[in-house]
Amino acid sequence: MLFFFCVCSWCFSVCTGTENKLSTLSDLEQQYRTLRKYYENCEVVMGNLEITSIDRSRNLTFLRSIREVTGYVLVALNQFDHLPLENLRIIRGTKLYEDRYSLAIFLNYRRDGNFGLRHLGLINLAEILYGGVYVDQNKFLCHADTIHWQDIVKNPGSHPVVVPTNSSVTCKLQILCVNCSFVIQNNLVFFFFSHSAVTKTVCAEQCDGRCSGPYVSDCCHRECAGGCFGPKDTDCFACTNFNDSGACVTQCPQPFFYNPTTFQLEHNPSARYTYGAFCVKKCPHNFVVDHNSCVRACPTNKMEVEDNHIKMCIPCTDICPKACDGIGTGSLQAAQTVDSSNIDKFVNCTKINEHSAYKKMINDGLKMCEYSICKQNLKPATVASSYLNIQSWPDNMTDLSVFSNLATIGGRALYSGISLLVLKQQGISSFLLQSLKEISAGNVHIAENKQLCYYNTVNWTRLFRSPNQKVLVRNNRNPLECARGHMVCDPLCSDDGCWGSGPDQCLSCKFFSRGRSCIKSCNLYQGEIREYANGSVCVECDSQCEQGDDNTLTCHGSGPEHCVKCLHFKDGPNCVEKCPDGLQGASSFIFKYAEANNECHPCHPNCTQGCIGPRLQDCIGWMDRTPLIAAGVIGGLFMVVIMALSVAVSVRRKNIKKKRALRRFLETELVEPLTPSGTAPNQAQLRILKETELKRIKILGSGAFGTVYKGIWIPEGETVKIPVAIKILNETTGPKANVEFMDEALIMASMEHPHLVRLLGVCLSPTIQLVTQLMPHGCLLDYVHEHKDNIGSQLLLNWCVQIAKVRRICAYYQQSYSNECHTDLLICFFIVLFCLSCTVNVRLISVIQSKVL
Ligand SMILES: *[C@@H]1O[C@H](CO)[C@@H](O)[C@H](O)[C@H]1NC(C)=O
Ligand SMILES: *[C@@H]1O[C@H](CO)[C@@H](O)[C@H](O)[C@H]1NC(C)=O
Ligand SMILES: *[C@@H]1O[C@H](CO)[C@@H](O)[C@H](O)[C@H]1NC(C)=O
Ligand SMILES: *[C@@H]1O[C@H](CO)[C@@H](O)[C@H](O)[C@H]1NC(C)=O
Ligand SMILES: *[C@@H]1O[C@H](CO)[C@@H](O)[C@H](O)[C@H]1NC(C)=O
Ligand SMILES: *[C@@H]1O[C@H](CO)[C@@H](O)[C@H](O)[C@H]1NC(C)=O
Ligand SMILES: *[C@@H]1O[C@H](CO)[C@@H](O)[C@H](O)[C@H]1NC(C)=O
Ligand SMILES: *[C@@H]1O[C@H](CO)[C@@H](O)[C@H](O)[C@H]1NC(C)=O
Ligand SMILES: *[C@@H]1O[C@H](CO)[C@@H](O)[C@H](O)[C@H]1NC(C)=O
Repeated sequence: MLFFFCVCSWCFSVCTGTENKLSTLSDLEQQYRTLRKYYENCEVVMGNLEITSIDRSRNLTFLRSIREVTGYVLVALNQFDHLPLENLRIIRGTKLYEDRYSLAIFLNYRRDGNFGLRHLGLINLAEILYGGVYVDQNKFLCHADTIHWQDIVKNPGSHPVVVPTNSSVTCKLQILCVNCSFVIQNNLVFFFFSHSAVTKTVCAEQCDGRCSGPYVSDCCHRECAGGCFGPKDTDCFACTNFNDSGACVTQCPQPFFYNPTTFQLEHNPSARYTYGAFCVKKCPHNFVVDHNSCVRACPTNKMEVEDNHIKMCIPCTDICPKACDGIGTGSLQAAQTVDSSNIDKFVNCTKINEHSAYKKMINDGLKMCEYSICKQNLKPATVASSYLNIQSWPDNMTDLSVFSNLATIGGRALYSGISLLVLKQQGISSFLLQSLKEISAGNVHIAENKQLCYYNTVNWTRLFRSPNQKVLVRNNRNPLECARGHMVCDPLCSDDGCWGSGPDQCLSCKFFSRGRSCIKSCNLYQGEIREYANGSVCVECDSQCEQGDDNTLTCHGSGPEHCVKCLHFKDGPNCVEKCPDGLQGASSFIFKYAEANNECHPCHPNCTQGCIGPRLQDCIGWMDRTPLIAAGVIGGLFMVVIMALSVAVSVRRKNIKKKRALRRFLETELVEPLTPSGTAPNQAQLRILKETELKRIKILGSGAFGTVYKGIWIPEGETVKIPVAIKILNETTGPKANVEFMDEALIMASMEHPHLVRLLGVCLSPTIQLVTQLMPHGCLLDYVHEHKDNIGSQLLLNWCVQIAKVRRICAYYQQSYSNECHTDLLICFFIVLFCLSCTVNVRLISVIQSKVL
């Protein structure tokens, strides 16, 4: 099930999923072993991940390796309490459970017991590309509703998200600790900062998906799925489409690219094939290349060929070649003759491997099979590797046209030195072997066929390949009688003779040929389909050539580059249906536009969606400035009016000036946008404050790192006084602590969220000081301690929701919830807090346990 797949230096292990739905093995031990066999060490499940009927005590840690599931995830009828899919980042939903859900978790508890699934360990699940979520009827499951599913499901509008809304309220779990990162003000919970997992709900408006922070420069690349570390296509958590050696791309490098100097598609040496959601240089060994993807088998209209050690599918020109076993070999080992029981095996055969097939078929078989069946079903082989031996033939069949596609008689095995034998057939009057062009070895023996004509017209030596091949023709119909019966070659045939009457039975043509038929002349100047003559062969002009009139040629050769005139557009020398529009070039996509003479010319290199002319302004999607200017003029007039109005309100404005200044400092002005490259927060966005701007009032608290003061900030040149909290690093701490302190400052500065305490600035002397908004009610934990009798459950629930909003993904514990139950609502609250702070302080656990409970 599992195989490793390596490309260049990186490997990943891929496993095929299952599609058993809820059907399970009766033996639970076997069920577990099967699951383990399928998914141990698997990173990418190419299919569905189905975890069903696993009992309580199983070790499921092997599921940790799974990062990605292309189909759906089904977790049902299990009894374990923890689902260790911690590293699952993305569910693609290429298949859905019940056509709706890509994540279905239900009935995970034991009916007659008091255990079952308690936590969804899906802490890294960040994106469900298609399909909805169904989490229900898990008696013991907690917190499923605290997860911001709408944020994970790519398109929540079109897929149902069914999660019970109040499970957490009744969840009974043991309390855990929090680090005092949370503060409270006006019934709102604030926290200092979160790391990485910022979701799409907090992104800047300009982002078209997720982001790593609140600024425009934090938008993830649009090919990212589930979030990112930075803005580049290599910073994604997972890819929406394809992973090309770490970069997320819309499509893998195509097998052909457009070469602008030759105006043609050329083979792309850096082509990659799509294999699931990956771009790979080589398909895995049991896969074949179909166009640009790795497939298990070629589609029906294509055949597998091996070129340069690459197995690939190419379209079949007529019917796809199919090699069949002959009588006495392979699947027909036991067969003696071709008859109605096995005739089906010869359908569409173009090659019959074993010579005895012909021998037996012809000696015995055809007698038995109805002529009509043979004619319809048996697409004659184009190559007979050995010989054609006709000694027994249905009486009412007058020719050998069943073999009209036979091009070569190989003569690898001979029948008494003979490769073509037609002996004593009273019914046969003509051969009609119109495709036969070669008899590679062996002699020809045509004798005692009282009705057979044409044998004498054929120049047999033209068909032979070696000088010692001979022809023995004896006692067939008299050629003069044949001529009297009009059984002669068509006048369009050359002197090489023919296999029967009509212009399509010639060995070669006197004048010109079109396909298999001989004709007098090519359609150079007239006719529905115009042609050119290559020697004596008439060849159709390319469909992109415009048909010439009665005295002009349509083309000089085959291919779109030899047209006299183009039907649609001309791109370099080639006639094309439309100008290149987003064709992959060697380094970028190529767009062209058509000039009045229907010639294609390249767009400005910066156009990304095509153009109507050569300039940047002609690009499609380029914002046209003219209407903007017009709008500007009108807007200017409005400005005059507005300014008049603003004078009127200026008095009022003065009154609220103070308030506004304060707001300004608390909001946008202090934090400049990140630099565009900004994967990491940048010092430039930090406001550096002067020591003289700050005034400390009293100590709020202190710790090993430093001391926090309540204080006032009076920005230079302003009259406002802003209450702030000043965190001062101890002078005794070393340079390492300084660095960490600055890191904290930078992270805080890069975060912006309604629920996040704002960093107002840093002061660098005499020691590092962080200046933040003051939260007058102080630490949330202390607040809860003090007011625990007055805090209603509604408020707590409210806080839970607020916290859950801020930080969607809980970093859980390792088995740290005990199964013991407490009904206090506070527990939920602290669990959530704990989840959010992502830190466990063992000392605090006991403090809270003793004080709160
Ligand atoms: C579970 O299996 C993993 C290996 O898959 C092993 O490392 C771990 O120790 C096992 N845990 C238990 C409790 O047996
Ligand atoms: C909340 O849960 C209880 C019991 O689990 C259930 O009866 C009730 O309908 C639920 N309420 C809502 C609004 O879902
Ligand atoms: C609070 O969390 C921070 C950052 O996660 C950590 O450095 C600090 O030690 C924690 N403090 C306590 C008291 O647990
Ligand atoms: C792309 O695939 C490589 C190799 O498996 C992996 O290391 C990397 O994390 C993947 N990148 C993304 C964005 O999925
Ligand atoms: C034989 O070929 C024809 C035409 O290509 C196709 O429609 C038919 O399905 C083929 N039959 C079998 C049994 O492959
Ligand atoms: C040949 O004879 C068989 C019956 O023997 C008949 O079914 C078949 O249609 C005949 N074929 C022709 C081409 O007359
Ligand atoms: C038959 O063809 C061969 C070679 O193609 C040629 O040399 C020979 O003259 C031809 N014989 C007749 C009778 O035309
Ligand atoms: C004519 O046919 C030959 C052989 O098929 C081919 O090599 C040649 O390129 C053709 N010439 C033209 C002008 O198409
Ligand atoms: C075109 O794009 C390149 C790279 O993105 C940029 O450096 C250049 O200034 C752009 N040219 C114009 C005319 O906008």
